[in-house]
Amino acid sequence: MSALFTPLKLGSVTIQNRIGMSALTRNRSSDTVPNEIMQKYYVQRAAGGIGLIVSEGVLITRQGTEWPQAPGIWDKSQVAAWKTIIDAVHEAGSKIYCQLWHLGRVSHPQAPEQIAAGVPVYAPSAISARGGKFRFLPGSPGYVTPTELPDPTVIIAQFKQAAVNAKEAGFDGVELHGANGYLVHQFLDSTSNKRTDKWGGSIENRARFALETLKVLIEVYGPDVAIKLSPAGGYNDMGMPLEETIETYGYLLREVEKLGLSYVALVRYSDVQNPEYDGVKRSTKHDVVATFRPFLTKTPIFVNAGVTLAEADEMVSNGIAGVFFGFNSIVHPDLGKRIQNGKALDNVPNIQLFYGHPDVDPAIGYVDYPEAVY
Ligand code: PHB
Repeated sequence: MSALFTPLKLGSVTIQNRIGMSALTRNRSSDTVPNEIMQKYYVQRAAGGIGLIVSEGVLITRQGTEWPQAPGIWDKSQVAAWKTIIDAVHEAGSKIYCQLWHLGRVSHPQAPEQIAAGVPVYAPSAISARGGKFRFLPGSPGYVTPTELPDPTVIIAQFKQAAVNAKEAGFDGVELHGANGYLVHQFLDSTSNKRTDKWGGSIENRARFALETLKVLIEVYGPDVAIKLSPAGGYNDMGMPLEETIETYGYLLREVEKLGLSYVALVRYSDVQNPEYDGVKRSTKHDVVATFRPFLTKTPIFVNAGVTLAEADEMVSNGIAGVFFGFNSIVHPDLGKRIQNGKALDNVPNIQLFYGHPDVDPAIGYVDYPEAVY
């Protein structure tokens, strides 16, 4: 595993190893404000040897939440709370990016934060995603038909303000969430974006929202801006035919390469993110890394989704910059140390509490996973 333990210059910071913790919804904040238990969780993982932590999805605006206890970064109390967490993560020896998140169409009009926002559920086009997972709302409703966003530049400005706030809080960089069927992805995909203005239609137009957002993030964060993409789709009812997928993401990545990002995170196809709708599997199954790597000769690539340790070592030995672990970062607070010391990844996952539960102490299934014996 020695390849994984070489430091890497990532934008303006150096990470101690190639092991990343991907953004993971844990639904433990106090409404939208981060808290002490979250600090404990992140510090455990920093001290446990993760080179690069990416925060859970952090909402850039009150409009839109899929989870009742997802944190935000649009106001001062959130910034102050994040600052305490980030200082402690740095103290513990890790670096931390803020994943900037906007849900787009997969919010719900009855979600408390959505009601408080006083604006509709916005998306590129008035096209509903199939499915839905609002288990915390009465009747567990599905997704609704969203309202076509009148002026996308309003949300781009919100992304910029969120980056300003993230910087004030001390995050080392920002990762634009362009994956898994959320707003940026909804603009990219021709099945969710049927706009007839300059933000929809052609590939250039569908990629505009992602690229313009990255440009404003760079105005704030310089070289410390990344993007996460999941070209194989599936999750949240995303996906285009293979040829269109390659053309769309090929164009996007050629343009991304010119921007000089700190990394691009590529989410691989996985069976667990391939739901069936109307009798048809939704993902466009292909080898995402092999297909899109040629478009990124300068930009570091991080690979995400179901990566084994043997694969991770091989990938990094062959020029992939780093690897994100999701499931294993939840279940092992000392993931980096375990890998480095050859300890088994054998904690038992408490899957029922991955997203917490209103009647259960938030610490359980969150900060109570044991370390290995060293
Ligand atoms: C989730 O909360 O289930 C979730 C959030 C963001 C993702 C994927 C899944 O990118």
